[in-house]
Amino acid sequence: MKRISVLTSGGDAPGMNAAIRAVVRRAIYDNMEVIGIKRGYSGLICGDVEPLKISSVADIVQRGGTFLRTARSEEFYTTQGRLKAWETIRSNQIEGLVVIGGDGTFRGAREFALEYPLGVIGIPATIDNDIPGTDFTVGFDTAVNNVVDAINKIRDTATSVERIVVVEVMGHDTGFIALEAGLAGGAESILIPEVPFSIEDVCEKIRLTYKRGKLHSIIVVAEGAGSGQEIGEQIKNGTGLDTRVTILGHIQRGGSPTAFDRNLASKMGSKAVEMLAAGCTKKMIAIEAGKITSIDFDDVIKQKKSIDLESYSLANILSF
Ligand code: F6P
Repeated sequence: MKRISVLTSGGDAPGMNAAIRAVVRRAIYDNMEVIGIKRGYSGLICGDVEPLKISSVADIVQRGGTFLRTARSEEFYTTQGRLKAWETIRSNQIEGLVVIGGDGTFRGAREFALEYPLGVIGIPATIDNDIPGTDFTVGFDTAVNNVVDAINKIRDTATSVERIVVVEVMGHDTGFIALEAGLAGGAESILIPEVPFSIEDVCEKIRLTYKRGKLHSIIVVAEGAGSGQEIGEQIKNGTGLDTRVTILGHIQRGGSPTAFDRNLASKMGSKAVEMLAAGCTKKMIAIEAGKITSIDFDDVIKQKKSIDLESYSLANILSF
């Protein structure tokens, strides 16, 4: 393989830059050329590409976001869109493509690899950690640390003024960020879409802990479990206690990636190039029990990642 390409697609995630850097430098080390595609599949469709050199990826390992930019392209999910994308691949004599993104990215990548003679390998990168087949996605650890940092700050003020604070976090329709950050941040309750809950139970737990003398409470709500604002109102009405709501929003997705995310991205980027060079296609790089592995796009797409219920119970036990 002489020339490969790389793009980032979907929501950005901290560590995407480290993954691009690893793809570029590993490929050049293996005597391949690398073409960077701007704004994900949109750039592939309109031919927005640039050759990447070793120096193109200097000084980015520590930066959040993605210097290639990213986008969610509806057009790539059409046959016509993918035909235009193929034109870019063909005219630039590209033989392999590394796509860095989430499950939507891999769905499109799978279709593309089925229709056209091109090696396609995916690197899972999303703060949501909702991709089956891999224990971690690039960006999750940084997002969790961002949330824990925010919870620590919120707790300082919540304890001082003896308040309940509902903290709404991202995660799309899953509770991975909420659970991991809630456990680490000592949240009194964690509400996630995977586990049914009742507001009355949340209020009852607050009442019990208040009887014991605890005069503040942090409730972490995954966005997929309901609106933080509404849940805050219900808790305020149910307990009669002073309640505030903080929606963390996009602050969770920014910032310098943690060492864990940088290293995960670096290992996955290098492995993606190795697999393309070995003639593999339609596979996503993964990490399982600390080992870098791979899984077919077909399996990624048909499964749903399950939440760790043991961590969920533990968080409940420890927060009384
Ligand atoms: O998938 C990453 C994510 O940050 C989700 O957690 C969130 O639901 C969504 O993207 C937000 O997307 P946007 O930035 O387009 O509003």
